[in-house]
Amino acid sequence: MVKIIAGNWKMNGTREMLDTMYAALADIKTENKIIICPPFTLLGGQSPIVIGAQDCSANESGAYTGEVSAKMLFESGAKYVIVGHSERRQYHNESNETVRAKAERALANGLTPIICVGETKEQFESGQTLEIIENQIRESIPNTESDIIVAYEPVWAIGTGLIPTMEDITRVHKHMRTLTPAPLLYGGSVKGSNAAEIMGTENVDGVLVGGASLKPDDFIPIIKSV
Ligand code: PGA
Repeated sequence: MVKIIAGNWKMNGTREMLDTMYAALADIKTENKIIICPPFTLLGGQSPIVIGAQDCSANESGAYTGEVSAKMLFESGAKYVIVGHSERRQYHNESNETVRAKAERALANGLTPIICVGETKEQFESGQTLEIIENQIRESIPNTESDIIVAYEPVWAIGTGLIPTMEDITRVHKHMRTLTPAPLLYGGSVKGSNAAEIMGTENVDGVLVGGASLKPDDFIPIIKSV
């Protein structure tokens, strides 16, 4: 099964790092779909692999200083855009409604949105995970048959080295599968040593990788694990 392996560089990276990654990936033979989402400033130019952005505006164009539109991203060569990452939801107060508007804007401009959902530690500990995820999916996903990808990223697993048990991932993805036919990614502390097990889990169509996507030595083992 072909898997989707997407790297989210967050606010990290230089042109040199991206060129190093491109050069390293050029030698890799894989059927998997590899996507790198570097910062806005590194989009554009020739890229041997598919690139995506990490956010887009919910608006089409106009007086929105500092924002970048889906149309601009498309023109820069991006094919995907992450929307609703928990860091956007948390630090920029993005609601499900905003996330859906961004996803709709992405689709209208030829981009595939990677829509992120995930519960906090408190919600996980109080057994609310499925309810939270269901609500986020119902409210953040556009009402369309178009191409979208959904990423389950438990907030408490991002950048912490903690991951849910495979039983928990299975349970959440099984529930997500009843809500959407979209490819389902898992994200949060994915690395070479756990990628195969995670991607071998039922209804996990790929991974969204943060820290371990920055360097070829960390990212390539994930790609080669499946
Ligand atoms: P991480 O981040 O792999 O560094 O935990 C994942 C993400 O935030 O997409």
